[in-house]
Amino acid sequence: MVDKEAVTIAIGADHAGYPLKQALLKTVLKGYDVIDLGTDSTAPVDYPDIARRVATVVAAGKADKGILICGTGIGMSIAAGKVRGIRAARCTEPFSAELSRRHNDANILCLWARITGVELASRTVEVWLNTPFEGGRHARRVGKIE
Ligand code: RB5
Repeated sequence: MVDKEAVTIAIGADHAGYPLKQALLKTVLKGYDVIDLGTDSTAPVDYPDIARRVATVVAAGKADKGILICGTGIGMSIAAGKVRGIRAARCTEPFSAELSRRHNDANILCLWARITGVELASRTVEVWLNTPFEGGRHARRVGKIE
């Protein structure tokens, strides 16, 4: 298991993702060094604004990884992926989360608050945070993305 205190995670959600963000902060993200970049309520906000906040912090190296949550995870993944250096992966279950780390070195996980519940999201986050990048041939492929 990863040394939680050694990992800085930037997190952000829009209004649809806000309740799941709060639930994750109280459970699976406890003990990590977390930078919460909003939003702070269920009042409507635009997901690209939140995605840019988190993606910019991760791309600048101020956080090791990022987590973004909207209704489906789709808008966040599209928006975050526009920032140079960001590999945002929308993962709806732990298997994809694991491979997004092992093969794609994903540095932002995008979650879907309106699709499934807190337990599957928590397990997905836990696996994602604890899976290393394999490097090797995958590093060559990730290099081609950059
Ligand atoms: C907000 O209603 C919704 O569009 C947003 O949370 C997200 O699902 C966009 O992809």
